[in-house]
Amino acid sequence: MLERLNSLLAKIFLIIFIIGTGNLAYSEENKAEFLKNNWSFDGIFGTFDRASLQRGYQVYQEVCAGCHSVQHLSYRNLSEKGGPEFLPEEAKAIAAQFEVTDGPNEDGEMFTRPGRLSDKFVKPFPNVKAAAAANGGAYPPDMSVLAKARKGGADYIYSLLMGYEEAPAGYELDDGVYYNKYMPGNKIKMAEPISDGIVEYMDGTETTKAQISKDVTAFLVWAADPHLESRHRMGFKVFFFLIILLTMVYLSKQKVWSRFSSKREKEEEEAFDKAERAVTEYEGEDPKTFK
Ligand code: HEC
Repeated sequence: MLERLNSLLAKIFLIIFIIGTGNLAYSEENKAEFLKNNWSFDGIFGTFDRASLQRGYQVYQEVCAGCHSVQHLSYRNLSEKGGPEFLPEEAKAIAAQFEVTDGPNEDGEMFTRPGRLSDKFVKPFPNVKAAAAANGGAYPPDMSVLAKARKGGADYIYSLLMGYEEAPAGYELDDGVYYNKYMPGNKIKMAEPISDGIVEYMDGTETTKAQISKDVTAFLVWAADPHLESRHRMGFKVFFFLIILLTMVYLSKQKVWSRFSSKREKEEEEAFDKAERAVTEYEGEDPKTFK
């Protein structure tokens, strides 16, 4: 019984440990085919690099927002904890750059006004059909969930952005279709969006294609999962709590069982003494000389 309980506890410890660390190994394995990066947000303790998210927002806004929407994000999210954490005034100024359709007013007419923090990110196209029509029939997917929806997540997006190449000799490509190493089927209806120096960073970070792709990828991962950091923090707390709890359960189990077994030992000893005395009495000998 004691051994079984012991091995059960050991197994629970082991399972928690595997869940805690195995996560990493599992996701690494899955992404083998994509370009690798050391993402700061990977793993159960991962957090975002604020500066990278802020640059990533700039790239999204200046390069991708002409075609891709991020419909779940509001400008307010840009200053919230766990994200790019722009100052509230900065987020307000960003929102005010956009023209938002509002209304109807008292005359029943729609009107435009500068964006506010509570507004959703302005969409480049009014609907999916208009978006597809403007892009040779291919719809530029909304980026609210893209990083989560695609196998490989961040590595997939980064690889795709870095994966434009000359098509191999004899490979047929229609107009408006490009060769990409990481797109399923290798054909993509998006021209290579990023090249060296396509944006100008204010913080002096180099603007290589790889750096820009990295920053915008980080931004898209956050956009698809704005609560990643608070979830990681909570996960860490739960993990820590479970370890403490299990240690306490284990120790109290040891204590209870040690009391129980010493009590039993004592009882056995007493029973043995009693039996011994009975035997010696029966044989009429002095118990003290009995060996
Ligand atoms: C000129 C319009 C345009 C711009 C600008 C643009 N995209 Fe795209 N994007 C598209 C279209 C259209 C598709 C769909 C391609 C397809 O399905 O063949 C696409 C697809 C993608 C995909 C693949 C999605 C999937 O289905 O797996 C990713 C990732 C992507 N874009 C990221 C970006 C990023 C990041 C930027 C900015 C740096 C950007 N795009 C800029 C039009 C654009």
